[in-house]
Parts: sequence; C-alpha cells; structure tokens
Amino acid sequence: MVAQIPLLTEQQIQDRVIELATKLNSDYDGKNLLVVGILKGAFMFFSDMVRRLTVPMAVDFMIVSSYTDTETTGKINVHYDLRESITGKDVLIVEDIVDTGITLNAIRQMLLQRAPASLKICALLDKKERRLVNVPVDYVGFDIPNEFVIGYGIDYNNNYRNLPYIAVYKKEG
Ligand code: PRP
Repeated sequence: MVAQIPLLTEQQIQDRVIELATKLNSDYDGKNLLVVGILKGAFMFFSDMVRRLTVPMAVDFMIVSSYTDTETTGKINVHYDLRESITGKDVLIVEDIVDTGITLNAIRQMLLQRAPASLKICALLDKKERRLVNVPVDYVGFDIPNEFVIGYGIDYNNNYRNLPYIAVYKKEG
C-alpha cells in the first residue's frame, strides 16, 4: 500500500511561484538572463515560473540524475548538457528540490568553470535537514521536512510527476 499525504496544494505552489517571479523580475531587470531548467524534476516549476517572468530572457536545459528508488547514488549523471554558451550571462538555475545538495553542487561547480557573469539558484523545495553538501540557494519556494515527496515534477521511480500538487510519499506495510 502507498499513501500520499498532502503537503503543498496547487494553489499554495502557484501563489509562491508568483511571489518568486516578482522578486526575480526585479533582481534581473537590465541583466542578460539565461534560465536553466534541471530536468526531469524541474519541468513543471520551470514552465510555471518562466511564464511569470517579464524580463528579457532565454532558456536552456540540462538533464541530470542521481537517484534510484528513494536514495541518492551520490554520483550525478549528466544525460544532456546546455546547448548555449553561458559565458558572460546571468545564469539562473531552476531546480525542483535541494535534498543532499549533491546534484546542485556538482552542476554549480561545472557551470562556474564556464565563466558566467553571475550564477544563482532558485529551488522550489529545500529539505535542509538532509543537506550533505553546502550549496548556496538564492531563491527558495518552501522549506520542507525530511520526508520523501512526489508531485509537481518530482517522482518516485519516474511516477507521479504529473500531480499538480506535492505530497509526502509513504509505503505502508
Ligand atoms: C532529484 C531532483 C534534484 C535532486 C536533488 O533528481 O530533481 O535534481 O534529485 O537531490 P540531491 O540534493 O540529494 O542531489 P533525480 O536524480 O531524482 O532526477 P530527476 O530530476 O530526473 O527526477
């Protein structure tokens, strides 16, 4: 048996996306913004976020993974790298969740070597209790407890990504 315990409603998420976008529109006014979505998990947050941005911007994506089942392997696999050069650009990484920090730290180190004008991170969810690697997260949607979550792009073995809300995933029995 699997239980889904509601954590964040669709309305709560959408309200927070608007708040974050308002801040980003102010912070990136007059900059050379490239928004980088980290797939697969960030696809829903990314698309809701960018449609609320009013500053000039370009998009690009990376496909990165490190989890099997509910555990990190500790090693990240880059399945697809950026198509654009980021040199001299104001890069904003958009990620669904920071858990151990291993994924974002690795991506950040990789992108810093390509000499962006600036590099910041926006994550919808921050599970601080699980952090193993210190990574600066500049914009956070919600701090969440140390529970395995699904929905709004986030998966359990590639399922549940389509849910428009976020729930705690619990195996029972
Ligand atoms: C998830 C999530 C983050 C990462 C966070 O990705 O999307 O990228 O784990 O965990 P960490 O802070 O412990 O590294 P996953 O490897 O499950 O791939 P996915 O995005 O395709 O679901």
